[in-house]
Amino acid sequence: MKKIYILIAILIFAVSYAQHDDRYVPETDPLVLEKIAKWQDLKFGLLMHWGPYSQWGVVESWSICAEDEGWCRRNIDDYALYKEKYEKLKNTFNPVKFDPDKWATAAADAGMKYMVFTTKHHDGFSMFDTKLTDYKISAEGTPFSSHPRANITKELFNAFRDKGLWVGAYFSKPDWHSPYYWWPNFATPDRNVNYDPLEYPGRWQKFVDFTHGQINELTSEYGKVDILWLDGGWVAKMSDGEIRKWYKGMLQSNPNGFIKKRVVSQDIKIDELAKIARKNQPGILVVDRAVYGKHQNYLTPENRVPDQLLPYPWESCIIAGGGWSWVNDPKFKSPREVIHLLVDIVSKGGNLLLNIAPSPEGTWHGDAYKLLNDIGKWMAVNDEAIYSTKPIEPYKEGQVRVTKKDGAVYAIYLGAEDENGPPSKIWLSSIQPKNDAKLTLLGTEQSLQWEKAENGVVIEIPDTIRQEPPCDFAWVVKISTIID
Ligand code: GLC
Repeated sequence: MKKIYILIAILIFAVSYAQHDDRYVPETDPLVLEKIAKWQDLKFGLLMHWGPYSQWGVVESWSICAEDEGWCRRNIDDYALYKEKYEKLKNTFNPVKFDPDKWATAAADAGMKYMVFTTKHHDGFSMFDTKLTDYKISAEGTPFSSHPRANITKELFNAFRDKGLWVGAYFSKPDWHSPYYWWPNFATPDRNVNYDPLEYPGRWQKFVDFTHGQINELTSEYGKVDILWLDGGWVAKMSDGEIRKWYKGMLQSNPNGFIKKRVVSQDIKIDELAKIARKNQPGILVVDRAVYGKHQNYLTPENRVPDQLLPYPWESCIIAGGGWSWVNDPKFKSPREVIHLLVDIVSKGGNLLLNIAPSPEGTWHGDAYKLLNDIGKWMAVNDEAIYSTKPIEPYKEGQVRVTKKDGAVYAIYLGAEDENGPPSKIWLSSIQPKNDAKLTLLGTEQSLQWEKAENGVVIEIPDTIRQEPPCDFAWVVKISTIID
């Protein structure tokens, strides 16, 4: 009998464990935990993809990958020739209009609190003065190398830090230039290492050493770095069982039994990598994107917003206009769209990392500045409802999103295209102010009238405010205190 009880207990534990969201493995280092909590308060950051590829306005790096995907296609149907031309782009990359202070000012004025920059994308071109390869912005002979701001990563980090932003290094684990990743001995069929690391452990170790060396440079020579944003999730150690599971999944989702992707275990020795980074930068956040394990301090859904609150730290990275990297004639999202995105994300406990792509000359598109300026105007009135807030149920109700901080609740009404001011009534069905609560619309002084309605509240917005609202796109009612 006792055995049966134990069995049932184990079963209950197993089921409840399985129901747990097991995509997130919490970190145990107290410095990192503290930093994650601080990072969650920042809410809004900037991502930039920039490199020699920006000159062609193509998708960053991917056109030198041989996979048959839309973003890998080339405009020359001779791969070898294409790759040669691609790698020569470094000889013409000369962003003489590079002015990192201007970008940092625009980002700070928009209310952004951190910045993540592509120090190295998959193509392997280092946008920092690495000692470990010549395929870099500061290599002798490249046009920008004699420029006083040639060490682009250093300049960017300094400029953004000076404006009070945290800085993060996007770093691609795969490196399609390194002969230790794409060995010239073999063809390169896809994004993966093009030889078997188990068969050639010495060669693979050289790649690991090179990668760890670059991480050491980035975390020891560039001042304080807050985030190590590691891309290229396929570079990860995988057990045979995990690999089998991948292939099984691919077969199941493909009735013809066609396996499109090769899955290769690529043990980049992430524990050691994180140790190097944290020895240089105690507490640095490591975001080993899309790799299960404790080195993914937060999750990073790409170009999408989860439908619901996620029970772990997360950030949506989203393109503001064009692509991740520069394209000619980019169409930017409207300030309404971005403000609504930010509010929606924050109400679900996440951060927004908005991507702006610099041009080959080192400028931003005028529309990017306009967008940030409009966001900044909105934030100047309403940022109290954003920074350091926590999610509160029901997170969203119709056009309203809610956040909370220090006992107060913020009801943020997302105005539709044709709404130039807040509606006459805002209704919440499950949040109720205490009798002595004070309700105001951020950016105005006047107390708002309100009434209990079942378990919720109806808030009246007077015509005077509706006709001259303190901001555009979304309006925030602050409720000073609510019934728990
Ligand atoms: C996608 C792109 C990659 C880019 C990343 C940013 O994965 O393929 O190039 O760096 O998004 O999140």
